Amino acid sequence: MNYFDINDIDNLQQWIEEAKELKKNPLKHKALGEDKTLVLLFFNNSLRTRLSTQKAGLNLGMNVMVMNFGQEGWQLEYGDGEVMDQGKSEHVIEAAQVVSQYADVIGIRAFAKFENKEEDYQEQVLTAFMKYASAPILNMESAIGHPLQALTDMITISEFNTKPKPKVVLSWAPHPRALPQAVANSFAQYANASDFDFVITHPEGYELAPQFVGGAKVTHNQDEAFKGADFIYVKNWSPYVDENYGQVMNTDENWRISAEKMALTNDGKFMHCLPVRRNVIVDDAVIDSENSLVIEQANNRTYAAQIALKKILESIEK
Ligand code: CP
Repeated sequence: MNYFDINDIDNLQQWIEEAKELKKNPLKHKALGEDKTLVLLFFNNSLRTRLSTQKAGLNLGMNVMVMNFGQEGWQLEYGDGEVMDQGKSEHVIEAAQVVSQYADVIGIRAFAKFENKEEDYQEQVLTAFMKYASAPILNMESAIGHPLQALTDMITISEFNTKPKPKVVLSWAPHPRALPQAVANSFAQYANASDFDFVITHPEGYELAPQFVGGAKVTHNQDEAFKGADFIYVKNWSPYVDENYGQVMNTDENWRISAEKMALTNDGKFMHCLPVRRNVIVDDAVIDSENSLVIEQANNRTYAAQIALKKILESIEK
């Protein structure tokens, strides 16, 4: 099996509970990955994903190899039938098969390029590796999804939730650079699959793709969304709409998360995937408060990666 997105999870609640069990005893399944090699390919920067996925592999007894493919690998061609007489040195057809010679599991991070919306939303890089690699693929954030982060966030909410149906809000916040929709897309997808009163709030023009919004309530009134919320999940994303795709159209600092806004919530918890720009996305007073879960989230990245790798390894064993 691959872990590409939520469709690879047979039972989300069960994965969450199993991840919480792994957290209590991370080395319990150390024999499972013995003599297996995890190769992690990074086309983009990372702190949390790189270290937590390595740690998860090590906890399962795997050997781990990491390559900064974006800086150190050959530039890859993805098109069919291309005459490769320009800058790209290697086709993904060979590259994916070659990596498979060294790996039992391949993790890949490849963000949206914002050059072509269709290519981004077709997941050009991950799709090509899944097609040509013979080893299973672990999505470490692709063009339009970050399933390890979303699984982490569901684990964290599960740990801190005290209600049968908590109010969970995904809020846009301003950022000076154009960021992908991946984290917001996956968070919305996993929240929609959970028993939440789920609300998305963002300025006009920042609507996410309909397949990720699903049945969530959507409002352009951030204060209204925050009222009575138990969890505030904050993330910037750039527009999905064709005419403004991947551009910065709004930096309204009224959307920054302040203590005044958090006071509208039901003593709500603050969440962010990190990295975060302090006093741009969120005020120091909020991220430094007792209600901030950002470090707990970062810790849970290990157990989200570990449960995904465990499921993949078990599927190889069969
Ligand atoms: N949240 C997250 O994916 O962090 P990194 O980009 O540092 O891996």
